[in-house]
Formats: sequence, structure tokens, C-alpha cells
Amino acid sequence: MTALTLTKFLTQIAADQPAVAASVRALAGVAVELSATIARPDSTAQLGAVRGSANADGDDQKKLDVLADEMIATALAAVDHVAAYLSEERDAAIQLHDGGDVIVASDPLDGSSNIDTNVSIGTIFSILPASGGSLQPGRNQLASGIFVYGPQTTLLVTCGDGVFAFQLGTDGQFHDMGWQVRMPAETSEFAINASNSRHWAAPVSRYIADCLAGSAGPRQRNFNMRWVGSLVADGWRIFRRGGIFLYPADARDGYDNGRLRLVYEASPMAFLVTQAGGRASDGQQDILDIVPDALHQRVPLVFGSANEVDEFVKYGS
Ligand code: F6P
Repeated sequence: MTALTLTKFLTQIAADQPAVAASVRALAGVAVELSATIARPDSTAQLGAVRGSANADGDDQKKLDVLADEMIATALAAVDHVAAYLSEERDAAIQLHDGGDVIVASDPLDGSSNIDTNVSIGTIFSILPASGGSLQPGRNQLASGIFVYGPQTTLLVTCGDGVFAFQLGTDGQFHDMGWQVRMPAETSEFAINASNSRHWAAPVSRYIADCLAGSAGPRQRNFNMRWVGSLVADGWRIFRRGGIFLYPADARDGYDNGRLRLVYEASPMAFLVTQAGGRASDGQQDILDIVPDALHQRVPLVFGSANEVDEFVKYGS
């Protein structure tokens, strides 16, 4: 830990990017409340209850998905700089302040299948210039970040000049973890939902088969596997010790562009990854270069240690 708090960090950011600083401050306030709500002894079973309707992506909405979304909408409505809020949980953008400088996109509660399993979940956000409208390539992002509610409540944030890591303290403040967030370029650890292997395209199957062949195969080293099932948690681990995450397209109905959403999952993660020296790709192009056609569009997502993502891309897709 260093003496730098998120509050001080955002005061520095505010000198050049007041709208970004105000938005991140509002989101951090929500994260503090969500972290407390999730940790309450009586909360998990109720927060994981299906609320009865599916969200804009067709996923079941849990009580905590809805709560997190409402808390973010309320917090951003109080920030004059925010022109609009785009959420996984809503069909369309909520317009907030005419003349606002930024648009905030968010997956309010990522990893919702893990809510009642006491496994890390989180909030993902992306901050874009309002002038570009709702459907901008990730390259335009002014800031992005992930809050993770796990053994520690943490924030990884970039405002375009490296990635900063903060941890929530008992004083209710986020403190700089004193961690220089640089992702190792090499890795021997992959993350993929292997239960879908029979649906994968040939290049994905070949890549994973070569990893599994270990020291006896063409990669000439052994690989380990991890799959938490919360993008934020798999991501956090990869920031910490390297790795490659894959959610490719597959042959199941509705998975021809994978599972994850471009605007509020893949793009913000890709901005963080790139700022930490890693890579994020859909198998063909950089995630940050993809211009969305629709708010809830899905995208195949492969990210992590730069050399390993490059290796995956060589298998073709
Ligand atoms: O937001 C979707 C998500 O829950 C991610 O957090 C996670 O990486 C992925 O879906 C898990 O997908 P699956 O249930 O197919 O393993």
C-alpha cells in the first residue's frame, strides 16, 4: 500500500479530465456500497435469486444485477458531466445530461452466475467521449476499469496512462496497492470453458490441444488451466501473473460471436489489458479497433499475455 488514495488520484486526473474523474468517483461510491451489500451475512441467497425476466442479452437477471444497475444509474444521474448511461441490463441508453461530456457504459454486475457461490464477481465500466455517440470503437475510451468483489474489493483503472490498482480499506477508501500493473508477456496458463470443446472451431481446438500436449507437444512446455467463470476474476488473475483468456465463437445456437459483449465487457477489458502491456483480440483484429453495430453485440474475446495472444492468432480463426 502507498499513501495514494483513489480520492487523491482522481483529484490529479480531474485537472485534465474532470468528467472522467467525476464518473469514476461516482462508480467507486457504488462499488463501496455493493461490496458491503454482498458481504452482509444474510445477503447472498437473496441477491442471487432470479428476478424473473431476462436482460437485453437474454441472460437471467439476478436481484443483484438489477440492484447494481439501479445504483449506478442513480449515481451517474448526479454527475452533470455524464450525457448517457449504457448498461447490460437495459435495452437502450439512458439519456442523463444534455451537453454532458462523457458516456459511461457498464456491466453493473459481472459473473452473476457466481453470486450465490461466494466466488469473486465485479463491475466493469468504460468511459467514452459523448461527442462520439453510443457506438464507438474501444480505441476512443478515455478510461475503463474493473471493480472486483472478492476476498479483497479492488479496482483496476486506466485513464490512458497505465493501469493503477486500488484496494478498499476498512476506512471505506480505496488505497493504491503499490503494484506496477504490467502483464508478463509470456505465460503457461490458459482460461477457457472446456465444456464447450465439442462446439469449437478447428483453430481453437488445435491451439488448446497443443497446450494440453504440454512438454511432449509442439509448445514444448506444460500448461496449467484456470476458469473462474467471472470475467473480472479471470482477468484480475491474468493481470497479476499473466495468462490467456479465451471465450471464442462456437457452434452453439447464439454463440457465433462468442458470449461476451463488446461495448461494456470486451472493450473496457481490452483497454486495461493494452495499457498493462498485454493484447486483446477477436482472433483477427484488435478488440479496440472494432466499431460496434449494436449496444449489446457479442464478440469473440481472447486476451492476456502479449506473446501468447499472438501465438493463438497464428492458429487462424
Ligand atoms: O458476463 C458473462 C460471464 O459471466 C463472464 O463473467 C464469464 O467469463 C462468462 O460469462 C462465463 O461463461 P460460461 O458460463 O459459459 O462459462
